[in-house]
Amino acid sequence: MSLRLGDTAPDFEQDSTEGRIRFHEWLGDGWGVLFSHPADFTPVCTTELGLTAKLRDEFSRRNVKAIALSVDPVDSHHDWIRDINETQGCTVNFPIIADHDRKVSELYDMIHPNASDSLTVRSLFIIDPNKKVRLIITYPASTGRNFNEVLRVIDSLQLTDEHRVATPGNWESGSDVVIVPSLQDEEEIRKRFPKGYKAVKSYLRMTPDPRTNWSGD
Ligand code: BEZ
Repeated sequence: MSLRLGDTAPDFEQDSTEGRIRFHEWLGDGWGVLFSHPADFTPVCTTELGLTAKLRDEFSRRNVKAIALSVDPVDSHHDWIRDINETQGCTVNFPIIADHDRKVSELYDMIHPNASDSLTVRSLFIIDPNKKVRLIITYPASTGRNFNEVLRVIDSLQLTDEHRVATPGNWESGSDVVIVPSLQDEEEIRKRFPKGYKAVKSYLRMTPDPRTNWSGD
């Protein structure tokens, strides 16, 4: 059965470019992004892995580790990493799993037979420090993912885990958020949101991002 939001991310042990990975142990107590790509030495995948390498500081700042996967062997991954570094102007700084026996691909339902019966599609999972799956996206082989969007979702998840808010469409860190509809007690709202809020409708209450500094104006 396929994974759903809130499920525990399946643990596994598999080879990678950084040696044998025991997934839950490797994740430690931080966040993880596990993403599959169809194959080594393919153009779109080359750009995606280059982007991920260049975003390392952004991932680290959010306490997130990235890990890629395809069914190609470790030797192929290593050869390909040389090309990625050369063509994308980066240093690949995260492991690539060699899922030769498709153990992980099957656990995470990354092979979609109507797309390809042998290659993984572009699956991506965000996993929280409790090892729960918090985001699942699946892109076709022909469309590279937007890794800024992945960071944006992590920002939203981390913010909404901490505060009783949700983030509107196209939200970016620092812009206004919505107060969750289940929060109705005005005194609690005042305490939680000292910057105040604007009720556009009774169910649509906007408040500044609680993480931003407030001048009191
Ligand atoms: C690519 O990464 O460029 C790619 C992979 C599989 C099919 C099409 C494109």
